[in-house]
Amino acid sequence: MRISYTIDEARSALRELRADGRSVALVPTMGALHEGHLSLIRLAREAADAVVVSLFVNPTQFGPTEDFSAYPRTMEQDLAACEAEGVSLLFAPDAARMYAPDHSTYVTPESLDQVLCGASRPGHFRGVLTVVAKLFNIVQPDVAVFGEKDAQQLRLIERMVRDLDIPVQILRGPIVREADGLAISSRNRYLSSEERAEAVCLHQALESAQAAFRGGEQHVETLKGLMMNRISEAPHAELDYAEIVDDATLQPVRRIEVPALAAIAVRFSRARLIDNMVLVPD
Ligand code: PAF
Repeated sequence: MRISYTIDEARSALRELRADGRSVALVPTMGALHEGHLSLIRLAREAADAVVVSLFVNPTQFGPTEDFSAYPRTMEQDLAACEAEGVSLLFAPDAARMYAPDHSTYVTPESLDQVLCGASRPGHFRGVLTVVAKLFNIVQPDVAVFGEKDAQQLRLIERMVRDLDIPVQILRGPIVREADGLAISSRNRYLSSEERAEAVCLHQALESAQAAFRGGEQHVETLKGLMMNRISEAPHAELDYAEIVDDATLQPVRRIEVPALAAIAVRFSRARLIDNMVLVPD
């Protein structure tokens, strides 16, 4: 496995990787790799001849009071995990190499970002889209893989690729869960043991909405009520949002008549966790 710390090094490694016409899949990450990331790497491996993983804790997607400095950095373990998964190139730039001191050009979404996490984290998706566009320009992958846990991010990236005619195919990687249903996330390590036990409430809230929906309940307010009730049973959980929106437009719906995204965000003391499920009418 090659490791590049600069854009020039990455570009020259990529020229070699592609020399014999091999296709390239990119898995963008912020490191602290876990089973969820490894599942994306495995999908990437099936989709292309060579896999590139980027590891960059992107400062522009963190708000001023968010966890940028506390975000877990586990380079040694990440390196070993990428090696074991057959990654061809690990691109691990630092912030000074990714953003010039007078960087002033951003990709700003004009829709899909006003709701859900976009409403709670102003500027977050501008940072995400900007860094993902930069990574696409640096790596020029044939395929890029993103996890479905970050449902809004995934839809915004798909929209950016469509709107800006970026020649990359986006693959969606299913959510990977712990045995009790908690979606695996780098931020789960912020949870105390009590909070960890309670954190299953996100998945259970979504499951209760899904069970009611499958039982014939289509009214969004009723389904949202079920989700909120389940979260309120967890003493350390503070609900950020529990929403059900049109899966394609992320706009509010009153009844589920087209595929809908049930999405939830909950804060524990140090961790803000998200999860989602798509509810598809028959
Ligand atoms: O999902 C993430 O880990 C990040 O938002 C991403 C896509 C790597 C951009 O920094």
